[in-house]
Amino acid sequence: MERFRGKAALVTGAAGGIGAAIVRQFRAEGAIVAVADRDVSGVEADAHLPGDLLDPAYADALPTAAFDALGALDIVINNAGVITRGPVTATADSDWALSLGVNVEAPFRICRSAIPIMAAAGGGAIVNVSSCWGVRPGPNHAVYCMTKAAIASLTQCMGMDHAHENIRVNAVCPNEVNSPMLRTGFARRGFDPDTAIAELGKTVPLGRIAEPEDIADVVAFLASDAARYMCGSLVEVNGGKPVG
Ligand SMILES: NC(=O)c1ccc[n+]([C@@H]2O[C@H](COP(=O)([O-])OP(=O)(O)OC[C@H]3O[C@@H](n4cnc5c(N)ncnc54)[C@H](O)[C@@H]3O)[C@@H](O)[C@H]2O)c1
Repeated sequence: MERFRGKAALVTGAAGGIGAAIVRQFRAEGAIVAVADRDVSGVEADAHLPGDLLDPAYADALPTAAFDALGALDIVINNAGVITRGPVTATADSDWALSLGVNVEAPFRICRSAIPIMAAAGGGAIVNVSSCWGVRPGPNHAVYCMTKAAIASLTQCMGMDHAHENIRVNAVCPNEVNSPMLRTGFARRGFDPDTAIAELGKTVPLGRIAEPEDIADVVAFLASDAARYMCGSLVEVNGGKPVG
């Protein structure tokens, strides 16, 4: 299937677990893709735009850089993210700044720059990666959950505000995904990632946690014409597992 033939996409967090799967899928379906992450040297793509999303000038300029490199910008996937653990009483100023900076401010800046480019071209699609933990409270990750709720809310608002410009803004909200974010978290806490992920899978009604491709498929759907009437939707992808 070549749903994205002739389309140009920008994907942030492209070197991570879910981001790499999104890039592979878009390219396999005919898109040309610009990849953004701190280090994109190992990612096969049509344009490489490395940088730090905590740098406001970099985030502001990314959509124009992608447009210049690809000759168009039809799709933006705000996927980069960081997770910080703990209740607010264990949250350092640095965790607050990091979480807000990467998970909220950077996608805000990227959307603010991308929307006029897309509007001038007659439309486009933006998919933000929120989390089930952004639509429902998750235990012991207060600031992470808040940032994912913020991007979920921004998605709903932008989905309404820019539909008249033929720009569809939606979000995917995964529960646990087998990615470096989850695996390094287990390793840091002294667990073997494979064992921990197998155990976690038993808590999911479908019998396993998500693989990055399970999320990439839904991102691709939301970016495709099959989702042409969806604006501001938050799509949970959770294998039947509630948050808690
Ligand atoms: N893994 C999960 O269980 C899970 C669940 C729900 C939502 N999510 C969300 O999915 C998205 C992708 O996460 P993942 O699981 O693939 O994690 P990951 O850690 O594998 O990938 C995240 C990527 O974001 C990049 N990134 C982080 N800070 C950056 C910065 N300052 N500048 C540029 N790039 C930066 C990282 O380098 C990394 O490649 C995130 O938004 C995450 O919150 C993940």
